[in-house]
Amino acid sequence: MTAQVCLTVGARQLVLRGEESAPRWYHFGPPLPDTETLEALHARSVPNAALDAPPFLSLCPVEGWGFWGKPSLSRLGLPPIRWQSVALTGNEADARVTLTADGLRWEQRYSLAASGGLTVSVRVTNLGPHPLTLLHCAAVTLPLPDEASEVLTFTGTWCNEYQTPRLALPAGAFERFGRRGRPGHDGFPALICGTPGFSDAAGALTAVHLAWSGDTALRVEALPDGQRVLQAGEAFAGGALTLAPGAVYDSPDAVIFVADGLNDLRRQTHRHVRDVIHPAPLPPRPVHLNTWEALYFNHDRAALSALIAAAAEIGVERFVLDDGWFRGRRADTAGLGDWEADPALYPQGLGPLAAEIQAAGMDMGLWVEPEMVNPDSDLYRAHPDWCLHVPQTERPTARNQLVLDLTRPDVGEYLFARLDALLRDHPIAYLKWDMNRDLAPAFSPINGWVTPAQTRALYSLLDRLRAAHPRVEIESCASGGARADWGILRRTDRVWTSDSNDARDRADIQRGFSLFFPPEVMGSHIGPPECHTSGRRLPLLTRGAVALAGHLGIEWDIRGLEPVERETLRALIAQFKADRVWQSRAETRYLALPEARAIGWMLYDPQTSTARITLYPRAYSQTPLTVRLPGLPAGQRYRITTRPPFSLPDALDGLIVSAETLSQTGLLFDLRAPDAALLFWLEPQS
Ligand code: DGJ
Repeated sequence: MTAQVCLTVGARQLVLRGEESAPRWYHFGPPLPDTETLEALHARSVPNAALDAPPFLSLCPVEGWGFWGKPSLSRLGLPPIRWQSVALTGNEADARVTLTADGLRWEQRYSLAASGGLTVSVRVTNLGPHPLTLLHCAAVTLPLPDEASEVLTFTGTWCNEYQTPRLALPAGAFERFGRRGRPGHDGFPALICGTPGFSDAAGALTAVHLAWSGDTALRVEALPDGQRVLQAGEAFAGGALTLAPGAVYDSPDAVIFVADGLNDLRRQTHRHVRDVIHPAPLPPRPVHLNTWEALYFNHDRAALSALIAAAAEIGVERFVLDDGWFRGRRADTAGLGDWEADPALYPQGLGPLAAEIQAAGMDMGLWVEPEMVNPDSDLYRAHPDWCLHVPQTERPTARNQLVLDLTRPDVGEYLFARLDALLRDHPIAYLKWDMNRDLAPAFSPINGWVTPAQTRALYSLLDRLRAAHPRVEIESCASGGARADWGILRRTDRVWTSDSNDARDRADIQRGFSLFFPPEVMGSHIGPPECHTSGRRLPLLTRGAVALAGHLGIEWDIRGLEPVERETLRALIAQFKADRVWQSRAETRYLALPEARAIGWMLYDPQTSTARITLYPRAYSQTPLTVRLPGLPAGQRYRITTRPPFSLPDALDGLIVSAETLSQTGLLFDLRAPDAALLFWLEPQS
């Protein structure tokens, strides 16, 4: 008898049907009135020169029985896995599929959210009397529509994260492995597959994100019989993961969306973050000042006091003391691990500084990098065995540091005690939790290959700390944006998107980032006139216009600003505060503009129908640019307006225009100068 589970939530439906050993994925998309016919409609004919009954793509294809794609589950040893029993259960939003074979149980859980996001994970239990070695275990393997032949993948480098190249799906497979023990600048763990040329505005697409901060394996495969397969799961360092008798392996969550164009994907992923990943709404995002690019390691007390005063004076609300405050930390060569205020810099500890920040009306943030240790530190001198390493072998450093072995309970206890003490002893509202190197070797002398254990131990540490200090916000930072994913975001409040504060580069970085993250979790700072990383000089309004797209901060030595700079910065901060509540529920839409000429985006508040548009001209041009603004509510009339410190051409400022005209005719802008960004609002008229 055929069993079926059918999840339906809002505009999405998932249909799984199973017979004997091969439950299959039949539909994920808008709800269908008649799901019983799917099996007959999608029956595949048997190719010539094939097995008489080929095993077409099931929920958990295994090797040995004629499925020629990548198995979802593979184990070391004999015999091939043969499913013996199948159970499908579910209600409207959740389902579970259980398959058992000799010696193991495979359970897959599904949860469909109102965002449109379908969360899928797998649990494997070793039912046998001997260790079970898993070579691979995907969280999900699903069919793609035949037309999904273009793939968007993520790549990048330091200061150039979230780049989104496209490729045509080749015969065979396209695969991305993350093996750094963190996603890395190049490896945000997601793939988007769609009809050729899918754009922000249109194109059927399927996206998967693996909500995991460790090693990942993402794959899309075109099988010769026409089936296209998307797969996501963890990559096991050392090539395998062994389960003792009775032990379980829980995969990370894979979250799947189907969408019409990338803006529709953004609408769903942003809602998913707001509903599912961060179910408790974030308080209005306070404006930050971060000391890194202002002072680097120069924690001169007088300089800090001047910076605190300057920040408070222009409306900053949170003062974040970055790297350099702890014992022995005068450069990036020493100190990591010794989480106490440096007595030479802070003879009475951090208390007086915290009091000064509070007296200035701001709350305090503090930079930490708990997972790391410098060989030149008291912690390392006392516990040289506490880092990941292979005994009797070199310990390769990166930024002069080694990675602590979080899989050791004593390391976890030490870190919790140090961080807990810092948070108990000081009024710290926010931790900037940094992580500045890849795991190499990802090996613990006592626990062997550490992925996924290191990632789970990190999550446990964060969970424990959050339980003890529920009001403290945490930022996930990793040499810029090298650790952003929904696994870490569940335990943190925002991401440091990139060490690049260069507005021109940032506009692209933020565009890629926005595919899975809403504006309120995107750390976005106004840097100095000459960007420290790129050397590019950009106007303050342009730096401000780009930083306003996210959670605003200042990353600039603002002591001694010119009066005009101070007033502009003050106005930018005021503007952020005026919009931040609706920005935290806004939809982000990128505009269809000629790529080489300009990039532009709209934040749209569905509650009030207000919209804010940013245009960033990249190239000098004498030709005016037509900017169409689709997707506004039909029949709505809008006043085009701007607010200080921004301005609009006189001809446009104050005009009242219909949503239809904004969408169809658009507005003509004389954007001649490159890098002179423009920001304006559409105010609904009653
Ligand atoms: C890397 C981060 O991305 C920077 O913002 C800064 O915090 C440095 N680390 C400090 O070492």
